[in-house]
Amino acid sequence: MKATARSQSAKSSPSLPNPSNWSGRRHFIDTKDLTLEEIGYLIHLARKYKNDLKAGKPPHSVLDGKVVANLFYENSTRTRCSFELASKHLGMVVLNLDMAVSSVKKGETIEDTARTLLALGVHVIVQRHSLSGSADRLAQILHEELHIVNAGDGTNAHPTQALLDLFTMLEYKSDLKGAKIAIVGDVTHSRVARSNFCLLRKLGADIHFAGPPALVPSDIEFPGATMHSALEDAIEQADFVMALRLQLERQQAGLIPSIEEYARLYRVDHKVLKRAKPHVKVLHPGPINRGVEISDEVADDSDISLIEKQVANGVPTRMSVLSAICRGA
Ligand code: CP
Repeated sequence: MKATARSQSAKSSPSLPNPSNWSGRRHFIDTKDLTLEEIGYLIHLARKYKNDLKAGKPPHSVLDGKVVANLFYENSTRTRCSFELASKHLGMVVLNLDMAVSSVKKGETIEDTARTLLALGVHVIVQRHSLSGSADRLAQILHEELHIVNAGDGTNAHPTQALLDLFTMLEYKSDLKGAKIAIVGDVTHSRVARSNFCLLRKLGADIHFAGPPALVPSDIEFPGATMHSALEDAIEQADFVMALRLQLERQQAGLIPSIEEYARLYRVDHKVLKRAKPHVKVLHPGPINRGVEISDEVADDSDISLIEKQVANGVPTRMSVLSAICRGA
């Protein structure tokens, strides 16, 4: 199946305000408490940065002299590289800590590591950690002293991923009010699903989840969403389908019968996408398990798959977050 919709350059989004000032929020921890004004500000600024990058003119002076430390206690390719590029495009000095050879290995706590970096002159910490709530805790402890950006905490939140997913969707559909978005797969272990749900609901999207019963929480956690056990029901007439990575590293044994059975029932392929709207677009936060949650053919179908666009949009989106929180109101 070939979808033919072209990107609407999404110059404006009717459901998003375009305020000229940032709220003054110092940390970027979750999408739960973001206001529509804040979302609008970040999306508009990300668009400006994307245009600057396209024109070969990254705005190097915006955060000139500020120092950012990337602390990734968990593995990452997309998030870590795009934060590094985003920081450099804004003129920041970037420290990439190699956690495998840092003093964390000698038992140093998250808080002591952060205080050490503060003493070294760091202004922003971008942190990924397996512990849910760890970024929020750090932001509370070091509230006025550092800016904390959550690059993923356990199964809780991945707010910059959700922001770049929203940015990418808005390039294809400028108003998400009433748009049907199917988020499918391992919802239980997905911080991406949680952050996207909170953000997309604020814009009035109609969210449907599907996955094996053991991997889809109850709708109590996702008020307003529709839960399905059959992939086909979630995808029916969907505008966007977001396939989630099967997170075997976070799962207890026995939640799914087998990878083969999971793929048979929940893999997003061209056959199941026939049920969606004709111009459906497929997203995946990456890294993908090819042939498990998404077929090779869909992942590599440039008419349908937005996966590479999501990765590319991670840079201007993260520039927008860093610039907003560091420059304040
Ligand atoms: N989407 C995402 O967080 O990818 P990485 O783990 O590669 O950063």
